[in-house]
Parts: sequence; structure tokens; C-alpha cells
Amino acid sequence: MSAPPQPRTWLDEALVRGRVFLFGALTRPVDIAVLATRPRALWAYLRLWLARYRSSPYRPATDYESLHAVRAAGQSRGSVEYGETPVFVVLGLFRPHGLGPGARFLDPCAGRGRVVLGARATGATSTGIELRPPHVAHGRAIVAGLGATLRAGDGSQGDEWLTATHVYVCWTGLPDEARAKFDARCADLPAGAVVATLTHPARSHALDPLAQRTIVTSWGPETAYLYRRR
Ligand SMILES: C[S@@+](CC[C@H](N)C(=O)[O-])C[C@H]1O[C@@H](n2cnc3c(N)ncnc32)[C@H](O)[C@@H]1O
Repeated sequence: MSAPPQPRTWLDEALVRGRVFLFGALTRPVDIAVLATRPRALWAYLRLWLARYRSSPYRPATDYESLHAVRAAGQSRGSVEYGETPVFVVLGLFRPHGLGPGARFLDPCAGRGRVVLGARATGATSTGIELRPPHVAHGRAIVAGLGATLRAGDGSQGDEWLTATHVYVCWTGLPDEARAKFDARCADLPAGAVVATLTHPARSHALDPLAQRTIVTSWGPETAYLYRRR
């Protein structure tokens, strides 16, 4: 798959909603089961999910704040298409590589913070950076209640790269030039940090490949590439 689908006509929107509904029906119960023993995290997860019904993040970026942020980052509107990764998928990628208490998780393309919330539930410090301010406005207080951080900004610019031990780079919709900015930041990570990229492999020479997995996202199956910072 090439990019999370972005609705443009009513038919596109109906198709996106259908896909999100289908993959949501398959993956939400697993997320809920994974979080069932952590009631605060589960409550936060449910609030984040329900926020989608008040205001859909799957609509194209047409608001001034998003367009301004996208332009300032040198990206196009198409590069901020929305999609989510189930919590259990991200935990399945990173937990075998030490995600848990003492780890510092970073999602530099964080959306509303579903993955940030999941990483925090493991006991890790967890931070998300999201380019579109409205997504941050929907998720920030919810993840903050768990002690995680979701902030607005260009995820390729954050200081969090200097200390992160686990990084999930969900750059499916980003073109080559934008992905290159994230690739370059991998060299700033501490030695031993684990990086997963979605859809597109990393190009950074600072990374050694670890594994490749097929995972499921809100828009369908995808390939995840796992690396370790040399
Ligand atoms: C496919 S969503 C993934 C959301 C989340 N990581 C997940 O997997 O559930 C990608 C997000 O990256 C955001 N994004 C795109 N370019 C970005 C950038 N330069 N910095 C931060 N966020 C960016 C988009 O607005 C979108 O919300």
C-alpha cells in the first residue's frame, strides 16, 4: 500500500470510513484486551477513539493552522494524510526490543497519540510530535493524563531524537524529500536505539537492519522495517 487514503469526494470518504470501520472492528478488540489490565490507559484509549466521532481526523487538511504548519515544514497537503497504528501492533514491534520502564519512546509523526498512549502504558517515557495542530488539540490532554507528551511541531526537528531509545516513524504518506529529513535524524539517536519505519525502508547509514514484518494499520496491511542504531 502506498499511503493512508485521504477522502476527497463523498465516495472517497465513504470508502475510507468503510476501511477504517473494517480494520477497526478487527483491531480495536485486540487493543482493548491488551490494555484491559491498565484501566487508566484503557480509559484514555477509549476517549481518544471516541474523539474521532466528534471530529474526524480522516478529513483532508483544510484548516489554516494545518496548512500553515505544512507549508512551514516544506511539505504538501498530501503528506499529512491520516491513519493510525493499533497499540498491540506497536507493542509487538518494540517490546521484544526492550520497550518498557526506563525506555524513551518517540513517535515523530504522532497523529492524535494512539501509539504514544500505547507506549506509555508499558511504563516507558513517551512523546509524540505532530505537524497538524488540530490533531494535537484532540489528543494532548488525554495522553497527558497518563504522563505522556503530545506536542505540535515538525517531528524531524525535535530534540527528542537525541535521547530516544525507541522510535516509530510512520511516514507512509511522506514523499522522498520529507522522509530524508527523518532519515538524517537517525544519526542523532543514541547507540542501540531501535527504529521502526512503516511502508518505506530507512536509508540512514547509521542503522543496521534487524527485521521486516507485515503489520496491520487502520488503512490495511503494511510492511514495517526494524533497525538498530549502530
Ligand atoms: C499515518 S499518521 C500516523 C499517526 C500515528 N503515528 C499512528 O501510527 O497511529 C501520520 C501523521 O504524521 C503527521 N505528519 C506528517 N508530516 C509530519 C512532520 N513533518 N512532523 C510531524 N508530523 C507529521 C500527519 O499529519 C499524520 O497525522
